Amino acid sequence: MEIIADPYQFQAWCASLDGAQALGFVPTMGALHAGHAALIRASRRRDERTAVSIFVNPTQFGPSEDFTRYPRPLEQDLALLGNEGVAVAFTPAAEAMYPAGDSVQVEVGELGERLCGASRPGHFRGVATVVAKLLQLAQPARAYFGQKDAVQAAIVRRLIDSLFLPVELVVCPIVRERDGLALSSRNTYLNPEQREAAKVLSRALRTMGEAYDAGERETAALLLIGRDVFASEPGARLEYLAAVDAATLLPVAAAGPGTLFAVAAFCGPTRLIDNAHIDHNGVYLL
Ligand code: PAJ
Repeated sequence: MEIIADPYQFQAWCASLDGAQALGFVPTMGALHAGHAALIRASRRRDERTAVSIFVNPTQFGPSEDFTRYPRPLEQDLALLGNEGVAVAFTPAAEAMYPAGDSVQVEVGELGERLCGASRPGHFRGVATVVAKLLQLAQPARAYFGQKDAVQAAIVRRLIDSLFLPVELVVCPIVRERDGLALSSRNTYLNPEQREAAKVLSRALRTMGEAYDAGERETAALLLIGRDVFASEPGARLEYLAAVDAATLLPVAAAGPGTLFAVAAFCGPTRLIDNAHIDHNGVYLL
């Protein structure tokens, strides 16, 4: 596996693939887990070559967020990428991605102010900016993102469409622990009590899914059911639980294909997110 830190070198490596060798690209911030591995495997199944970036992107962290303490187990991550058959790992420094004098940013507009964007001002500007830079460098046939970050996936979809980026977006299902907790690099912050409380996110979504499967379609009723589950867990503080259109992120009154149920909650100081959605066949997917 090639390990490249210089953006121009990474760009040259990707450009050197001949047209028949489709490149799949998986952007990450490292601290890799089975959720990331699932994206890599999805690419390995479809693409001749897979590139993975590991870059803890400073512009998507707010001033009081966890940028400095975000886990950075680089050696371990590179070993995982090697074992997964990744062709190239891109590990740039912040100064290389944002050279002195760089002032160009990708504004997301209203879409970036909904759900997580409401409590994390500027977060999705940072995400869109770095994803645009990374896609420009790699110019992959396909880019793989996780449904775990459903709001991010909606914004990347809009970014690709708005800028006419010639890349296919592949959104992969959420990988969970056996007890339902969605895998996240931030789960390592949780102490045992917080880890126990964190199960409430998927439990609320699962209970809402049971009501949906039993025929409930009013999102107001489904959200009440989810909030009740949160009320029974004092170790978690709900930030939002919402039913929205997965593409526009605007609230919807009746649940149906394309409805996203998204949740964010604090367990101690750690902010966790999760979601479920209704697929095009009307099936509730957690
Ligand atoms: P990061 O949190 O490292 O996630 C990288 C990719 O892995 C994202 O597309 C995310 O949705 C996916 N992912 C994380 N946990 C997952 C899980 N449990 N199941 C399935 N997929 C999962 O998201 C980012 O990094 C950054 O914002 C980035 C896109 C790299 C831009 O900086």
